[in-house]
Amino acid sequence: QEHVRQMQNDIMEQLIPQDASGAVENLADLNVTSNLGRMTHYYFQQGGKMLRPTVSLLMGNACNSASNRSIPEEFLAIPISDRSEISTHLSVCQNQFKIGMIAEMIHTASLVHDDVIDEANTRRGSASVNAVWGNKMSVLVGDFILARATQILCSIGKPNVISVMASIIEDLVLGEFMQMSVTPPDATPAQRMKAYIEKTHRKTASLFASSCRSAAILSDPSNANLHQTAYEYGRNLGIAFQLADDLLDFISTSDEMGKPVAADLKLGLATAPVLYACDQYPELVQMLLRKFKQSGDAERAREIVVNSDGIIRTRQLIDTYSQEAVKMASSLPNRNESTEQLIKLALSQSDRKF
Ligand code: FPP
Ligand code: MG
Ligand code: MG
Repeated sequence: QEHVRQMQNDIMEQLIPQDASGAVENLADLNVTSNLGRMTHYYFQQGGKMLRPTVSLLMGNACNSASNRSIPEEFLAIPISDRSEISTHLSVCQNQFKIGMIAEMIHTASLVHDDVIDEANTRRGSASVNAVWGNKMSVLVGDFILARATQILCSIGKPNVISVMASIIEDLVLGEFMQMSVTPPDATPAQRMKAYIEKTHRKTASLFASSCRSAAILSDPSNANLHQTAYEYGRNLGIAFQLADDLLDFISTSDEMGKPVAADLKLGLATAPVLYACDQYPELVQMLLRKFKQSGDAERAREIVVNSDGIIRTRQLIDTYSQEAVKMASSLPNRNESTEQLIKLALSQSDRKF
């Protein structure tokens, strides 16, 4: 955990607004720099799980020690005095460290935008950015974090990595759009589940998958098999993670989660537990098609779902994706401490409590 804490400080340093044109005084006079600085730091200060950087750093380390080549010069960039903790635990190059930072920054920017879209008032146990500063500034704060992430990405200087990481942002937007659309009334249960998994890939798993792929590319640029295995690990872990999140929306409390629960139905969203419950209780399909908007729909649907086999079937689906991630991590060329951690992370999604 020490290396990701260090990373949190590095990210906050990168988020201090500076004026490239040199007209800092005007920005300072208007309190722009201090206000924006405070807002961009807000979610990072609350200490998130830093799961995305953890996964990409572990993947980077697993790939680095798997390749039999001698360690390139850039790998040695990390052991500088204030990062000695990192170097004792991990052998990652500076650019792999940057991928972790970028992943967390894209994730946080997407949460800032997401809380506006979902009209959420809490995040990580505190008031959300939009609850404190309003929607307009929140959208700009998210954009600012993305802009800074883009600067760091460009400093890596590798077009293929830039392209892979940029595809995450495209997927986030497409995932949100998919989530806002309702599947056609004549769709089969299998088609609905397929669309839900595709949406889940875009809105959540793509970030894990593409960060893992980037870490692998930076480790061994011409090993396409390694890149694909890393990507598939991230994709399967990411889908298991979001499935667990969707399940917890039904079975956890807002105290445990630090954000609203029982929220998805009210937002009109039919996640895995609901889709499975539709097989047992076809009346849910009508509610799903009207996005649970009729008075009493959300409450009635929740009651049905928590008492259906949708809960257990969702757990089984989490297991399926977790096991696939374990398979991918196990098929990395070498087993070491990092691959063990990747396996543990995948297995922990089945009984995640928050
Ligand atoms: C949280 O999901 C949100 C996401 C995983 C992605 C949100 C993506 C966007 C808003 C697209 C635009 C983003 C960028 C960076 C341009 P959730 O609402 O299901 O979970 P929650 O309970 O944590 O809010
Ligand atoms: Mg959302
Ligand atoms: Mg949300």
